[in-house]
Amino acid sequence: MTLRARLLSLTLSMVAIVALTLIALNLNSLAGTSLDVAIGSSEMAARQIHSVVVRKLASTTPGSLTLAETKALWTRAVAEDGDLAALLEGTMAQSSSIVEINIAGEDSIVLAASNPQRRKTPMVSRQDLHELRDDTPLGRITAIWKGREDYETRLPLGISGQKAPLFTIQVLVAPVLLRAAMLPALWNMAAASSVALALAFVLAYWSARIALRPLARISHLIDDIAGGRVPDVTAGKADEARELAVIESKLSLLGERFRGATKDLEGALARLDAGTRRHIEDQLLMARRLTAINSLTSRVAHEIKNPLNSISLRLEVLRSRVSEEEPDTASEFAILSEEVLRLDRVVRTFLDFNRPVELRLAETDLRELTREMLNFLEPEAAQRGIRILFDDMAGPVAVRADSDLLRQALLNISVNAIEAMGTGGELRMLLERAGDSCVIRIGDTGPGIPREQLDKIFQLYFTTKPKGSGIGLAMTFRAVQLHGGTIEVDSMVGRGTTFLVTLPLAGVS
Ligand SMILES: Nc1ncnc2c1ncn2[C@@H]1O[C@H](COP(=O)(O)OP(=O)(O)OP(=O)(O)O)[C@@H](O)[C@H]1O
Ligand SMILES: [Mg+2]
Repeated sequence: MTLRARLLSLTLSMVAIVALTLIALNLNSLAGTSLDVAIGSSEMAARQIHSVVVRKLASTTPGSLTLAETKALWTRAVAEDGDLAALLEGTMAQSSSIVEINIAGEDSIVLAASNPQRRKTPMVSRQDLHELRDDTPLGRITAIWKGREDYETRLPLGISGQKAPLFTIQVLVAPVLLRAAMLPALWNMAAASSVALALAFVLAYWSARIALRPLARISHLIDDIAGGRVPDVTAGKADEARELAVIESKLSLLGERFRGATKDLEGALARLDAGTRRHIEDQLLMARRLTAINSLTSRVAHEIKNPLNSISLRLEVLRSRVSEEEPDTASEFAILSEEVLRLDRVVRTFLDFNRPVELRLAETDLRELTREMLNFLEPEAAQRGIRILFDDMAGPVAVRADSDLLRQALLNISVNAIEAMGTGGELRMLLERAGDSCVIRIGDTGPGIPREQLDKIFQLYFTTKPKGSGIGLAMTFRAVQLHGGTIEVDSMVGRGTTFLVTLPLAGVS
């Protein structure tokens, strides 16, 4: 999802949540109000009927009847009064939520009703309208929205001194009528919310555009800097936030410096003579090629490691099963195991080789380091009849180096030289300064390296020796690079080979 889409959906969700909460709150208060209105009109209707009935009964009270006779007389009077039935019907018709009004006697049989069919039937009890009003907001909204059962309000009418009422006035309210009363207000609310959402969408889209504009500009600015172009920092700055303007100006400053540095570098390169330039290009090319080869082989090595382990395990299982029955196969298994082990060694050394190196750099005297290394080689060289010549500069030559790594790198070159010469010959070591750098020359009088092999000798695993591993020079190349140096080789078949390692002197950056 793009950043713009995320901003838009976030803003819209927020507005939708606010709108829905407002709708829910409104709906709740709407339901409360319409229930209050319904209760008010039901109670008023019940009281009106109550007073009419009381008036009618007062006019039909004879002087000396027993209580039972009075009740029977009044019950008949209510049941047979045509005006009362018409009053009930009229009162119901005037209200927008009342659907029925009944008057029942002591035995709960309907005596008079707004709906004539109800007469002489038992009065059905419904849930009290007051209980619905006091329900939870969700409860009462669901009841109004989905309810089919009517709700009632009751008003008893009794004879003074008697506990049980003689008549019960029941007013029924239908949820469907409450719903109909609420609907117009609800439509208004839905329309207002839709308008608010549409407005919010437009505003969110607009503000996302404004918010993202500086990011787009910064991205263009970085593109300009990366492409070496002059960034345009004037356009669109006025209407952007101050913080972004600051970032932009810092970026453009960075761009200035970057371009300055690039120009310096270009100038320095232009001042170099053709030979040195070609040399730098060669080194870069070789480093790039080696990196590409190593990363490819590294992936292959990782792929090989696990199957190789499982081959080795299976081989052992197979060997233990077969060798008892077929002892002749032991030598075959030995060869197979040896080959698998060899492959395993190769993969392991390769993965080790490609692991990142942690350099422990310290100011190191190169004269001392090379002298130590030659002392170490002396016995082997003497045994082969090889002379070691060392020509160093006067005074110490300080470089910042990881002395173990650098010693191993120079040792690899020197051991190769001794191995190439076999017996007899000269190993010449020369230390010299060249500007800000120091050059270490290691030459031999061996057979030399054929032209077609010259650009392969630094590749990992390239070897021409039966027992060689082809790691020495690859490791040397990497070590020299890690020290910010370069390595070159000059060889002539039949005459010998000279390696030139150039390292920056300490204190020079
Ligand atoms: N001074 C030299 N004279 C002639 N050939 C050389 C010289 N130095 C290196 N080579 C060639 O470069 C190859 C690679 O050298 P490298 O040191 O990387 O591997 P290696 O010596 O074969 O094996 P190891 O990993 O044991 O050092 C050698 O096999 C050899 O053919
Ligand atoms: Mg070697």
